[in-house]
Amino acid sequence: MPTPVLQAHGAEIPMLGFGTSPITGGFSADEVVTALRAGYRHIDTARKYGTEREVGEAPRRRASPRRDIFLVTKVSHENLHEADFARSVDESLTALGVDAVDLLMIHWPNIAIPVAEAVKGLAKAKRQGVARHIGVANFNTTLLAEALHLCPEPIAVLQAEYHPYLDQTKVLAACRQHGLAFVAYCPLGRGRLFGDKVLAEIAASRGRTVAQVALRWLMQQNVAAIPRSSNPERIAANLDVFDFTLSDDEIARIAALKRPNGRIANPAGRVPPWDEAGANPPDAAGQSG
Ligand SMILES: NC(=O)c1ccc[n+]([C@@H]2O[C@H](COP(=O)([O-])OP(=O)(O)OC[C@H]3O[C@@H](n4cnc5c(N)ncnc54)[C@H](OP(=O)(O)O)[C@@H]3O)[C@@H](O)[C@H]2O)c1
Repeated sequence: MPTPVLQAHGAEIPMLGFGTSPITGGFSADEVVTALRAGYRHIDTARKYGTEREVGEAPRRRASPRRDIFLVTKVSHENLHEADFARSVDESLTALGVDAVDLLMIHWPNIAIPVAEAVKGLAKAKRQGVARHIGVANFNTTLLAEALHLCPEPIAVLQAEYHPYLDQTKVLAACRQHGLAFVAYCPLGRGRLFGDKVLAEIAASRGRTVAQVALRWLMQQNVAAIPRSSNPERIAANLDVFDFTLSDDEIARIAALKRPNGRIANPAGRVPPWDEAGANPPDAAGQSG
């Protein structure tokens, strides 16, 4: 079954994509080849991940036409000054072996670099045609409003952490208000959801996995998701979420799992003040993804 797409400012974003951050374990091009074979058409990488070369290699190994893949990369927070931004984009295109990406994002905000300057780099990449669409990741609602106001080109996507343990009501509402697609990263809570009793109960009652229930919960909010797995069976199973529907009661039970301290990617020195009540303090170990 083809993956449904989210439409936003001219972008058509496959709702289930494949993550390639090596933070949960080693990474190889084989994973992306497996994901493409399973039917994923949206692949998420970042300059910071060091996975762009493998991500670029996988479609060539499978002879997948470039137009069939919605390819996403990101510019790191250290590279948001205009000249650094352009250099980072060039390096990404070289590593990926493509002339343009489908979506280029600012990976994290940087309090030392004004949003006005960061969005200049994004807009320029779009105008030069090296980014078909542009977006921001890890912006709170205040930074998003600033970016929307200052960016001369339309921002199509906000990518942010989202899973049942994290309340993203405010950011989601801002995306809806401005017609942005919301793409959820860490949609499986980077593995933290798998011991959850409520999710396990719903999954068992429907003959599904916990991962499928968590991903379906996002799909029913019109939120895209980019789970990562290194396991071929799980890669395929995570995509198989378009033939069942959670009931209103199940959706409410899952939404009620949100909790203070639910955030995972929270690197000190990079995070803005988050929108959710009871956000956990930034993590000095700096784990992000
Ligand atoms: N913009 C940002 O700042 C940012 C931050 C973080 C992440 N991201 C993006 O989002 C992607 C996803 O986030 P993530 O990789 O951190 O976390 P995730 O996708 O929520 O979770 C990945 C973990 O879940 C396990 N898993 C996957 N499917 C499973 C299943 N069906 N059953 C049991 N375990 C399963 C994986 O283990 P196995 O490999 O053993 O299956 C892995 O340890 C990243 O790869 C990256 O592309 C973006």
